[in-house]
Amino acid sequence: MNRFEANLRIPGPTSIPDAVREAGAHQMVNHRGPEFAVLQNSIIARLKTFYRTENDVLIVTAAGTGGLESAIVSFLSPGDRVLAVTIGAFGDRFAKIATVYGADVTKLAFEWGKAAEPARVREALQAGGPWKAVLMTQNETSTAVTNPIHELAKVVKDVAPDALIVVDAISGLGAVPFETDDWKLDVVVSGSQKAWMVAPGLSFVSVSPRAWEAAAVAKMPKFYFDLAAHKTSAEAGQTPWTPAVAVMFQLDVALDLMEQEGLEDICKRHAAVGAAVRAGLTSLGFKLLADPAYASNTVTGAWIPEDLDWKTFNGKLRKLGLIVAGGQGALKGKIFRIGHLGHVTVPDILNAMAVLEQALIELGRPVTPGVAVQAAQVAALKSLGLAK
Ligand SMILES: Cc1ncc(COP(=O)(O)O)c(C=O)c1O
Repeated sequence: MNRFEANLRIPGPTSIPDAVREAGAHQMVNHRGPEFAVLQNSIIARLKTFYRTENDVLIVTAAGTGGLESAIVSFLSPGDRVLAVTIGAFGDRFAKIATVYGADVTKLAFEWGKAAEPARVREALQAGGPWKAVLMTQNETSTAVTNPIHELAKVVKDVAPDALIVVDAISGLGAVPFETDDWKLDVVVSGSQKAWMVAPGLSFVSVSPRAWEAAAVAKMPKFYFDLAAHKTSAEAGQTPWTPAVAVMFQLDVALDLMEQEGLEDICKRHAAVGAAVRAGLTSLGFKLLADPAYASNTVTGAWIPEDLDWKTFNGKLRKLGLIVAGGQGALKGKIFRIGHLGHVTVPDILNAMAVLEQALIELGRPVTPGVAVQAAQVAALKSLGLAK
């Protein structure tokens, strides 16, 4: 096996369809010319359908973290009161970016593995303010938990209606149900290397009219990540700085594939692979990190048992062609994570389960061959309504 042909099961970058990969080899075009304008306009129109928004959607050439930074510097001023709701490493990162730029950040942290509780968000909002913004994470990749963003947003609207709701949806948007406009979310950030099935390099940011009003008076220092500059350029069919043109060509094709499948079926597929991974890992005796009520359908985290040497186990997985991710921050060395977002099917997950079984058996652990494959497949079929 070529070392690049492994079953890449990390929560981004994800493996990408062949047609998308090939699209990246397209000859360059003038990024200030008409071909690029057509390409970008078409991409933006289709991103909006997956964001479920009429708001502006801007393309920033950056990793997801750059998208988060753009969301902070474009709408806030130093000293603005910001409530950062965090349930893991990426929520902490979002809070840190706001702190670095001088926002007055109150962090509301929840136990890792749990979702944010609307009642505690309500209390925190009532205890302080006036709030300029509330930062939240839709899908916390470090703990494999999906927050109830709609419930949380309702609380913000109720208690602090003037606060901008700013959501990191980097590892969930395009894979699980999400309603930017219906949930009244002002700024939503996503990243190309996740559910969108393309290479890293682009982040997408939706911006509500209310957020643009805030941008007009925002005083945080900014240059590259100034979203107002991105809006002006986008109106002329351009980007302010040279974009990652090859990734744009990939995205064009990936969006075609996503449109062909349809958002509803994409979400059903992710629900099925999520159920499959959770059932398969559980059948092998792994304990899952996430509160089952909020378990993510794009990534799953499992505790590493004390009697399992992680390095040896992971080495076996790699040798057998399965690449998984380790833990982050406080969970480093304690959990491993399986990514299941974007270009992923139930059979990809069954392959991953077979490899996990094989590795455990080779390490001398008492695993019945086929147990995880069967548990995963049954769970996927149930999720798809094809088994009871
Ligand atoms: C929820 C979340 N936020 C932010 C990021 C940061 O994105 P990037 O690594 O592209 O900067 C990630 C990446 O894994 C993520 O999953």
